[in-house]
Amino acid sequence: MDQEFSKNLRQWYRKNGRKLPWRGTKEAYKIWLSEIILQQTRVNQGLPYYEKFLENFPSINKLAEASEDQILRLWQGLGYYSRARNLHAAAKQVIIDFKGEFPADFKKLKSIKGIGDYTASAIASFAFDLPHPVVDGNVYRFLSRFFGMDIPIDSSLGKKAFDDLALELMDGQHAAEHNQAMMEIGSLVCKPISPNCDECPFSMACHAFIYNKVSDYPVKGKKLTAKKRYFHYFLVTDGIATYIRRRNEKDIWQGLYELPLVEVSECSDFPPAIPEMAKIHQPTFNNQPVKRKHILSHQELYTCFWRLEIDKCLTPNDGYLRVKLTDLSTYAFPQLIVKYFEHEGL
Ligand code: ADE
Repeated sequence: MDQEFSKNLRQWYRKNGRKLPWRGTKEAYKIWLSEIILQQTRVNQGLPYYEKFLENFPSINKLAEASEDQILRLWQGLGYYSRARNLHAAAKQVIIDFKGEFPADFKKLKSIKGIGDYTASAIASFAFDLPHPVVDGNVYRFLSRFFGMDIPIDSSLGKKAFDDLALELMDGQHAAEHNQAMMEIGSLVCKPISPNCDECPFSMACHAFIYNKVSDYPVKGKKLTAKKRYFHYFLVTDGIATYIRRRNEKDIWQGLYELPLVEVSECSDFPPAIPEMAKIHQPTFNNQPVKRKHILSHQELYTCFWRLEIDKCLTPNDGYLRVKLTDLSTYAFPQLIVKYFEHEGL
């Protein structure tokens, strides 16, 4: 353990760290919630979600009792919806397996749905002061620059090397403060673009700064090319109602709602078919689709939205719900579709 390193870091943090709501608590429930949200988004965007979740679900019991729809609705906009589904499953599991209290044990924490090494370390250290290093993107960047680590951070060997290094640097007597400080210096000073090396208390010993190679770190392996997919969505409406369905497919949007969808294998500006419920009418197309490109972690979605005007929305066929346009906001949709609704003034 390098006591000097941790001491200097924590001293910097006490002076410069932000006062964030999840830092003022030792409650594992709140810490867990904040970490799951912050894996999805930055602090500023995450704050209102954190507050909204705590307001609606002030305890793990309340979260466990909620419906999945309610949770997905509150999560809407954060993306990666399996995290929200896991949140719900984890709450139920903590009640059953651990009588509603998160365990103060790294291995047991990892047995909870959706909790991997990162989240288990965060809860173990922040809530229980156990000496587990937390290594998030901020920490990878800071350590890779300071030590000139050339091993790719997205390789399993790289992960192991960074974990070992982070453990070596940690002062186990001050696990919570040390980990918060590591993340904070990466977030506020050792930023991805235009880092504030002039203000950094570590710059004089920083490998990347000394060799003028700050932008070379962290090193990443080869990127996989994203898969391209082509979607046509249909807003089939009589001006009052429309049709939506809940996705059951086991993919990132499972449990969310969507408009009738036709996927095609190549980019085309023409709708390949129209949904069943519009066929019995003589629908009128708006002349141009609304086109949107949506980037997910491993996919690029090229999407056309078609508005199909029909004379009356009838009882829907299998799997679809007929909902009023004014009620759409009570359902959770992928952000791609929410943006289209906003475009349509819905
Ligand atoms: N990002 C992930 N966890 C965080 C935390 N506890 N504080 C600030 N940013 C974070």
